[in-house]
Amino acid sequence: MSYPLSTSHFPLPTPHSPLPTPHSPLSTFPLTPSSLLTFGDLCVDLILSGGDVVPQFGQVEKLVGDYTLEMGGSCSIFACQFARLGLPAAILGRVGRDSFGDLILARLQEAGVETRFVSVDPALKTGLGIALCRQDDRAILTYLGSITAVTPADVTDDRLACAGHLHHGSYFLHAPLRPHIPSIFARARRLGLTTSLDTNWDPADAWDDRWDEILPLVDVFLPNEAEALRIAGEHHLPAALARLHRLGAPLIVVKRGAQGALLSQDGQILEHTVAPALAGGDAIGAGDSFDAGFLAAWLRRLPLPEALRIACACGRSVAGKVGGLAGQLTWEQIQNGY
Ligand SMILES: Nc1ncnc2c1ncn2[C@@H]1O[C@H](COP(=O)(O)OP(=O)(O)OP(=O)(O)O)[C@@H](O)[C@H]1O
Ligand SMILES: [Mg+2]
Repeated sequence: MSYPLSTSHFPLPTPHSPLPTPHSPLSTFPLTPSSLLTFGDLCVDLILSGGDVVPQFGQVEKLVGDYTLEMGGSCSIFACQFARLGLPAAILGRVGRDSFGDLILARLQEAGVETRFVSVDPALKTGLGIALCRQDDRAILTYLGSITAVTPADVTDDRLACAGHLHHGSYFLHAPLRPHIPSIFARARRLGLTTSLDTNWDPADAWDDRWDEILPLVDVFLPNEAEALRIAGEHHLPAALARLHRLGAPLIVVKRGAQGALLSQDGQILEHTVAPALAGGDAIGAGDSFDAGFLAAWLRRLPLPEALRIACACGRSVAGKVGGLAGQLTWEQIQNGY
């Protein structure tokens, strides 16, 4: 079910100009319509793979084939991919005063992400995800710590006004911030920012929320297929898309794993299929890198089919590697055909 979709430059739903006047020292972060701010669900991932990774109680010691220790967190992986695609990205969050916190700051800075809004909190332990990866599936144990350490009070107008776009990629996991997202997104809109939201999975599997209040504040909505179905309360994607549009989402981009992705806008649907990712990857961060690819193209005002293609290339490349950062493409690679 593929329909033609205009390849002309899309209109940005929220006017970018005039941008608010910078009024604090924080505003030295590049202030352009394409500079982006996101919330830090800052953590590290310890990824165990190979052999029998299923633990057995009764003090049984099992040997695994390999491990990787890497920065994790949807928004954090997203920010690294967005910066690698050549646009300014800043992250707002906290890490603990520990070696995991050091690793996270190093990874963000290596990718070119602005970290001046990340504070080191000695009272906090840096968040940790332990991923047990089998060929076809994974199980994750998470210690939240710094993952949910951003508070609504951290999201000041000064900080929002440093960027042209606000992205949130950890909506359900970041429970303390969640009730405040409608007012934060509304504030961002008033300050002239465009917005995007990837809910990711609801650990409570409840999916209920004030979607009719939230989705009209989201310029680009980026669920995966299972998330779109659950949020809409539908069993089939066309019905789910129709419902999400009725709830107020103008542009919906749906990730479909190895099947690629599709987008829906103004009654038109565009699909993009992908070649299989390289074997041996764990798909961690594929969705977050996809989001960054789409937004880096959308904020450059590239045609939507082009944005979808770039997003899929970013997601597929990360899906073929271990961890959320390996495999992230640069804008130069995108321009040179990867
Ligand atoms: N096995 C794969 N082969 C090729 N491309 C893939 C594969 N897995 C993911 N991708 C690409 O990455 C995109 C995003 O992946 P996916 O659909 O898994 O997102 P997600 O469910 O949000 O993932 P995440 O677990 O990171 O939240 C897909 O739309 C696709 O373009
Ligand atoms: Mg996802």
